Amino acid sequence: MRVAFVGKGGSGKTTLSSLFARHLAASGAPVLAIDGDINQHLAEALGHEGGSPVAPPLGAHLNDIKDYLRGTNPRIASREAMIKTTPPGTGSRLLTLLGDDDLHTRHVRRVGDVPLMVTGEFDESDLGVACYHSKLGGVELYLNHLVDGPGEYVVVDMTAGADAFASGLFTRFDLTFLVAEPTRKGVSVYRQYRDHAREFGIRIAVVGNKVTGEDDLLFLKEEVGDDLLTHLDHSPWVRTAEQGRQPDGAQALDSLEPANRHALNVLRAAVDASPHDWATLHRHAVEFHLRNARSWAGEDLASQIDPDFVPDPASLS
Ligand SMILES: Nc1ncnc2c1ncn2[C@@H]1O[C@H](COP(=O)(O)OP(=O)(O)O)[C@@H](O)[C@H]1O
Ligand SMILES: [Mg+2]
Repeated sequence: MRVAFVGKGGSGKTTLSSLFARHLAASGAPVLAIDGDINQHLAEALGHEGGSPVAPPLGAHLNDIKDYLRGTNPRIASREAMIKTTPPGTGSRLLTLLGDDDLHTRHVRRVGDVPLMVTGEFDESDLGVACYHSKLGGVELYLNHLVDGPGEYVVVDMTAGADAFASGLFTRFDLTFLVAEPTRKGVSVYRQYRDHAREFGIRIAVVGNKVTGEDDLLFLKEEVGDDLLTHLDHSPWVRTAEQGRQPDGAQALDSLEPANRHALNVLRAAVDASPHDWATLHRHAVEFHLRNARSWAGEDLASQIDPDFVPDPASLS
């Protein structure tokens, strides 16, 4: 199952991605956390100390990633011809979650109990050369080639606000959690996202965050209605963790406030109840690729699509 956390900057995407990934890992479930935000803070939230990236960022190795994933797919002539939306076909290398392959070996490092992959900062040298979305292309390619099994989780901390729609990445998830503070701004990002989500049949659930009382909760209920799945309260535990005064490791979450722990269970139940439909997932990937094909003159991108191929458990063998 793949989930993304989206929402306004500062709403708590990174905090909730980290808590949710730790919650899953503590239960023994296979989980991979991915930092897909422009400001890379997920490693820190998971307890990584020091400024250096935990592992080589995906964004800095896109060409190698493309070469690896295209394998012997005859429809993709070169790494240059492969773009972030190029879907897998016969001959492509499909991935299993945390599999024993070059990509995971190079790009995944554990922080505490949680294996983490990062896209990399958008730095000065990128200005005018690349846009952040091309860096995020690494995550899109990864998810397009991943055949995750039942009971496995990918948790992506996404870029803020409506930026998340600039690529097809937002269609790669079984469920998208929209983190909303009980404020008008927090809720307005929800409305934008909801409208995009409807257009593409994307499942979203709103998670209220930093709720401080009944009034906050009422506000969210009024503004969000049935899309409000659950909420986390404003948490002294989170603050203490941010001050570096919270123990790491599997037991640390035991001291999280019971109401917030309960909310994490609700998130997990919602993910587990989401349908995982390989054919639809792939159809969206192809749709986005064709959009690119129409807007990019020159390259014959449409011919990269293998008409009878769907990446799914059967195609792994
Ligand atoms: N439930 C919570 N209780 C207390 N503080 C929180 C909570 N959720 C987030 N925060 C704090 O809010 C700030 C922004 O959170 P962050 O996860 O970095 O937001 P985002 O990733 O959406 O920009 C951080 O200082 C974080 O510690
Ligand atoms: Mg963040």
